[in-house]
Amino acid sequence: MASLQLGVSSLAGPTFQIRCSSERQALFNRIAPVYDNLNDMLSLGQHRIWKRMAVSWSRAKEGDNVLDVCCGSGDLTFLLSERVGPNGKAFGFDFSKEQLLIASTRQKLRSKTCYKNIKWMEGNALDLPFPDSSFDAVTIGYGLRNVVDRHKAMAEICRVLKQGSTVSVLDFNKSINPLSTTIQELMIDNIVVPVASGYGLEDEYIYLKSSIKDFLTGNELEKLALDVGFSTAKHFEIGFGFMGNLVAIR
Ligand SMILES: C[S@@+](CC[C@H](N)C(=O)[O-])C[C@H]1O[C@@H](n2cnc3c(N)ncnc32)[C@H](O)[C@@H]1O
Repeated sequence: MASLQLGVSSLAGPTFQIRCSSERQALFNRIAPVYDNLNDMLSLGQHRIWKRMAVSWSRAKEGDNVLDVCCGSGDLTFLLSERVGPNGKAFGFDFSKEQLLIASTRQKLRSKTCYKNIKWMEGNALDLPFPDSSFDAVTIGYGLRNVVDRHKAMAEICRVLKQGSTVSVLDFNKSINPLSTTIQELMIDNIVVPVASGYGLEDEYIYLKSSIKDFLTGNELEKLALDVGFSTAKHFEIGFGFMGNLVAIR
């Protein structure tokens, strides 16, 4: 098992440090069996709305070739597939075998024709195995916060997008408003972590709080997108400001 470190700081509460890529991969493999249930429970189903918004912002359309980076169990990939329809093609890409196994099981259990055109691929978001300018739209949901090198991940996404195409980046919002941040942290400490601990995953979800702290604000995300070569970038706060969605056009 990966060497995850649970640290305790008296003021900030417990912290769970996950530094390298293989530790993150192990974490997402471990939480795979309960990940979808926890998402529904912890967001009261709201994550489905935010994911629909993210896919809509991607501007994917009928017949497109699209990519969902860090697809996990495939929520955004399935939604993308519905938008591109049976004449399009959707790729779900992740480095967690266990998450991809759940995604492909879900695909087998569903009957919409468009889902037949989904392909699941295992690999690292920092080194996408696609030629330049391959995709008409890309999504990444709750993934950018979790990669070890966000600059590289965004540069890779920019590279594989066609000129004029869009990436939609959904994630927790790292707010610059101290009140929002305090409420977000209280919710994680008092709802998310206790619920996750019921599944034996307390440590894994303590990591969530530090990962948001280490993430980028809306302005920083816009700057990152422009730095790696996108021509426009706009960040939107959604879900009462607890979530955010960056929309960047190559
Ligand atoms: C929080 S989950 C999000 C899953 C899904 N997009 C969703 O919104 O439900 C983050 C996913 O990112 C994947 N991930 C993290 N770093 C990655 C990397 N470097 N390459 C590929 N996948 C990665 C994890 O395996 C995990 O499935």
